[in-house]
Amino acid sequence: MISQAMQDAFNKQINEELYSAYLYAAMANYFEASSLKGFAHWMRLQSEEELGHTRRIVTFMNDRGGRVILDAVAAPQVDWEAPLAAFEAAYTHECHISACINALSTKAMEEKDHASHAFLEWFVTEQVEEEANADEIVQQLKLMDGAPGGLFLMDRELAQRTGGGEATA
Ligand code: FEO
Repeated sequence: MISQAMQDAFNKQINEELYSAYLYAAMANYFEASSLKGFAHWMRLQSEEELGHTRRIVTFMNDRGGRVILDAVAAPQVDWEAPLAAFEAAYTHECHISACINALSTKAMEEKDHASHAFLEWFVTEQVEEEANADEIVQQLKLMDGAPGGLFLMDRELAQRTGGGEATA
């Protein structure tokens, strides 16, 4: 059985992950409207990945006898001034999620909830990748400095992304 304090904390994280999915879906639609189909594809898969993170926590809560409470998801921003601004926002958001995961992990230790702490290790590792993926694209966009040719090539590259949803979650 999982404590009420940890249930509350995990329910809050479920909302954070759902908001992440919502935010990246909004970014995908921004890229669609900007005729950058590869960027849109990348963001759609990122949105699906966030739903995978959500499922992972929901399954864990249910396995531990917790009660999943779904709260309202805030409306995300829908427009950005440029692809770089969108990816900078994605990177900033992932840093925020990393802080949430770290706080959750600290809480699990305070509660002496070893099962939750072990479960959260996957998310701690995942966040390293999440931040790195967004930051790599930010740095590439900065290097090309808005050059249309570079944006075109990058759009083709991002269109190659595979995965996204998590079969194991
Ligand atoms: Fe669920 Fe992108 O962190």
